[in-house]
Amino acid sequence: MAPTRVLTGITTSGTPHLGNYAGAIRPAILSSQDSGTEAFYFLADYHALIKAQDPALVQRSTLEIAAAWLACGLDPSKVWFYRQSDIPEIPELTWFLTCSTGKGMLNRAHAYKAAVDVNRDRGEDDDDGVTAGLFMYPVLMAADILIFDANKVPVGRDQIQHIEMARDIALRFNHNYDGSYFVLPEVVIDEQVATLPGLDGRKMSKSYNNTIPLFASSKELQKLIAGIVTDSRLPGEPKDIDGNSIYELYAAFASADDAAAFAASLQGGLGWGDAKKQLFELIDRVVSPMRQKYESLIANPSEIEAILLDNAARLREKFTMPKMRELRSAVGIRSLDARPVEAAADDVPVRVLPVIKQYREKDGRFYFKLTQGDAVLLQSIAFADPKAAGEWVSRIRTGGIDMDTLGPVVEPVADAPSVEAALDVLAAAQREKDAQG
Ligand code: TRP
Repeated sequence: MAPTRVLTGITTSGTPHLGNYAGAIRPAILSSQDSGTEAFYFLADYHALIKAQDPALVQRSTLEIAAAWLACGLDPSKVWFYRQSDIPEIPELTWFLTCSTGKGMLNRAHAYKAAVDVNRDRGEDDDDGVTAGLFMYPVLMAADILIFDANKVPVGRDQIQHIEMARDIALRFNHNYDGSYFVLPEVVIDEQVATLPGLDGRKMSKSYNNTIPLFASSKELQKLIAGIVTDSRLPGEPKDIDGNSIYELYAAFASADDAAAFAASLQGGLGWGDAKKQLFELIDRVVSPMRQKYESLIANPSEIEAILLDNAARLREKFTMPKMRELRSAVGIRSLDARPVEAAADDVPVRVLPVIKQYREKDGRFYFKLTQGDAVLLQSIAFADPKAAGEWVSRIRTGGIDMDTLGPVVEPVADAPSVEAALDVLAAAQREKDAQG
């Protein structure tokens, strides 16, 4: 059975933090070790441009996120690990999909609607400060997914709507071009995956500015943990476990047994200062070997660059270039030689077979032509000798004649296919006749 393709992207507009690790990096690396799946993990740097227009930040974030994944154990020879912008077929597909996407559907995207709501509350124009990039975000994301025919897309809850839109867009394209060009992706929400609280107790997120960088130095880590907001219960007083940020962070990095023991000490009155110290020691122990790897990767960006370029080159060869060739042809962006072949095949009912006729014109000379219904596929030059024309006709009928040989004796016909295409039509008809006996 073909492996299930699992694909997800990481927007490169920030520094990887503990929430990214527990919520995305760690589960993705674990699941990439399943046999039976083919994983695609990529750096969504085109998406980053929607949020961040600081070139140094985009570059730095791309480096940091790539280094983080590798330092956390991602094996780029076992999964596809690449950078979105290294695959030019993705923006090309984005445009094809754009033309099959209802604007009304994009009007309903949560991220866009949220921006409009903020503007309305402020009494501004609906689209004030909204770029077309933000509006088109779901289409670019659909291209990321559809170009690889991904089956499963593990994401956070905030991304569910985008996967639904990718399905809608795929269906619309399949319908418009009357084929099944894309696999319909399914969203995967892992209930087991931890959502970590940030420094202020809300979900750890770059947009809340409450994150703990995954690769902060030990000293910084200790300082940040010491600053996590807690209630004011004193040492000796029992602490609640529900909604307890220190406990939740601890549990995300500890075994179930250790987490249970930590919960028991908190309920038994462990002071916040001691609890934070234990939390720091735990996280530092988990992160420290990865931190060393991370630092050496960051110091050596050309190693990462080479990995990304190698993956992209192989992916393009294997997936995206052939896929786009198919799609370009499907939408009618194709060689002008090729168009009429299919037009002849599509537009003329199949029952109308091509025929070669030899005839004499009023000018007294002899000609032959290949027609199919009303369409003239090939038109010969004039022959003074009917036998010469007849010989060409029989050579064509018996097949095996190529366009170079035929070229000098045929004339261009307006709206007709190339000689090669005309011969293909004839050969196909011949094969059909042979098959029917
Ligand atoms: N929008 C996703 C996020 O911000 C990142 C992303 C871009 C993505 N393209 C994707 C995720 C394709 C899954 C599939 O989290």
